This record gives sequence, structure tokens and C-alpha cells, in this order.
Amino acid sequence: MTERIVLAYSGGLDTSVAIGWIGEATGAEVIAVAVDVGQGGESLETIRQRALGCGAVEAYVADASDEFANEYCVPTLKANALYQGHYPLVSAISRPVIVKHLVKAAREFGATTVAHGCTGKGNDQVRFEVGIQTLGPDLKCIAPVRDLALTRDKAIAFAEEKGLPIETTKKNPYSIDQNVWGRAVETGYLEDIWNAPTKDIYDYTATPEFPPAPDEVTISFEAGVPVAIDGIKVTPLQAIKELNRRAGAQGVGRIDVVEDRLVGIKSREIYEAPGAMALITAHKHLEDITVEREQARFKATVGQRWAELVYDGQWFSPLKRSLDAFIDDTQKYVSGDIRMVLHGGQAIVNGRRSETSLYDFDLATYDTGDTFDQSMARGFIELWGMSAKVASGRDIRVAGK
Ligand code: ARG
Repeated sequence: MTERIVLAYSGGLDTSVAIGWIGEATGAEVIAVAVDVGQGGESLETIRQRALGCGAVEAYVADASDEFANEYCVPTLKANALYQGHYPLVSAISRPVIVKHLVKAAREFGATTVAHGCTGKGNDQVRFEVGIQTLGPDLKCIAPVRDLALTRDKAIAFAEEKGLPIETTKKNPYSIDQNVWGRAVETGYLEDIWNAPTKDIYDYTATPEFPPAPDEVTISFEAGVPVAIDGIKVTPLQAIKELNRRAGAQGVGRIDVVEDRLVGIKSREIYEAPGAMALITAHKHLEDITVEREQARFKATVGQRWAELVYDGQWFSPLKRSLDAFIDDTQKYVSGDIRMVLHGGQAIVNGRRSETSLYDFDLATYDTGDTFDQSMARGFIELWGMSAKVASGRDIRVAGK
């Protein structure tokens, strides 16, 4: 039987050419796998037809946008995950869901190998292949750009020579990856890290210098999950989309960073994640009133480690699973409403309410009705400072000798 390879297929030039390129290099039959993670653009049907037109023997297409929102974006939100304090893991969380579908397709169509369009310099090759190794240990991996010398120039020449049904003239100097959680843009002019991004780079966000009137929004959460916007019930996918639209119109969620790739390279990336950043901001503010202090402090560390694991391609790892269990436990009381104003590139919280809040007005107030007994503070401070005071006494004693 002819060997079969499933290819992660985007519908773009590189993966369209990869279908025939892999076929010629290996003699295998190629099955194209296209997964909708809310990236917008062409319909799955158009992408399926193109895959078949480019020589795929079968095309597997899946609308995974709700699955992606519920099982990948929501955990990222619960963790308030920002890699290196900036990046909401847009591409990093889409790879594991694509991997799930690649493995499913491999089983359905009897494939032995999984192919993807990543280069040998980035994080995504690691995320794909570590995921495949974990979910389908018997499957092999191949990356035509990295392993079969498929360069851009060769791809264009191949598409023209074979008359593939794909545009080869459209020149986009950037490498773009996008889904409902956000958009990532790199390469070209941006590789000079002193160059400011030009306006044409952005798609999910409007320029914050010319914002429309401020937009006030109320986001309701239940156990850390967004459930309503302005009182209207929404699914996580709808919440992200609605905030992409409204926060995007106000220029919220633009991020310009030089980040540390897993493969040891520092690289510059421009992100736009209006919905994700508005949701993370709101969620964090709700945690501020509903999560106990020590739990909240520890959770910040856990969230950071979670972001590193996910960035580093360890989505399916035991430690990531354990951290998920901790994070889920912290979300039990993260229910309530956050009101925020979206304007001029910022999402600023100006009100919060929750039935499960730990904010005690009577303890906090400086007005009459104060139930906090201030006389307890002196003794507390005395004991709190005791250890450092004893140590500093020793320092003075030793220095004096
Ligand atoms: N640097 C990001 C990551 O590793 C995004 C990778 C894809 N970026 C792109 N513009 N194609 O998660």
C-alpha cells in the first residue's frame, strides 16, 4: 500500500506547494488537514477544493473554533498567561488543537507520517512535533521547508510550473499567523528592531490615535469563564469575537516585543490581541477581589510557569496538567461582573461586583462603620519585624568587633 502523509494545510502558497513537493520527494499520498481556529479568511470548503486541486488525495477540514476557544483560550485566560509578561500565546495555543486534528486525521486515513510547514528556526516546529510524539508516538514527522529544502523561490517556481490553483504574485513581506485569540506578524522590515511597525501591519486593531468615543463594556464571569457581555449570554468564542471587535476598534491589545524563542534566538514579533487582552485585564481584576491573597500571589508564579510551558511546546505535559488543576481550583469563586472602558488603546477597569467577593467594605472603610480594630496593628508590626530586627542587631554587633 502507498504510504500516506497528513499535512497541516493552511491554504496558502507554501503548504499548497508542499502537497506536491512531499508527494514527489517521498512517493507518498498526501492528505491535507485544515483546521479552523477562528483565523477568518477563506471558507473551509474553498480551502478543501484548493487542497484537492493541488494534488491532495483527501482533504480533512474541521471547524475547531469553539473547541479552540473553550479548551485552549479559556485555560490561557484563567492563567492570565502572558509569556515574558507580554505575549498571550496566540500561536502557541493553536498548535496543540491542530495536532489533535492531525492525529485524528492520520488515524482516519491510515497515515504513518505528519507534515507541517514550519521552518527549522521557530517554536512551532517544536510544538507540532512534541505534540505529535505525545498523542501519536508511532507517527513520524516531516517538515518540507526544513527537511526537503522547500524555499520560497522554489515554491513559487513549482506552483507556476505545475499550474497550481494558487496565487503566486501576491507579495506579502511578512509572516503572519492568526486565530481568534490574536494575530502575530514578523519578518521583513520588522527584523530591524528599531523600526516602528507601519500601519499596514495591523488588521485586528484600529490605530489608537483616532479612537471613536469611549466604549464601556461589562463582562460577566462564572468560575473564571466569560459568560455574558453587557448582560447578554455568550459562549467563550462569542465573548472573544465581540471583544476583538469592540476592543479592536479602540486599538486595544497591540504588542511589540523581542521575545526569547525556545531555540535560543531572540526575535521581534508584533501581536494584536484585542479580545484576549481585554479579557485577561477584566479577569485579573475580578481575581483581585475574589482570590485570597496568598493563593493569588502563588497563582501569579504558577501562571508565569504555565505560560513558559505552553510557549515551549509542553501543552500535553504532566506538569502543565498539574498546573491546570491548581489554576482551576483557584477559579472556584472568580464569578461576577467587571465594567471597563475601552478607549485610546487602553482597557481600563472602573467597576467590579461579585457575590463571592472578599472585599469587605466595613473592614476597608475610613468612614464611620469601620469594624477594623486598629489597636491590633502595633503588636502585629512588632512581631512581623522581629526576625529582621534581630538579624540587624547581629550585623551591628559583628561589624563593631
Ligand atoms: N513568536 C510567536 C510564537 O512563537 C508566533 C510564531 C508565529 N509567528 C508568525 N508571525 N508566523 O508563539
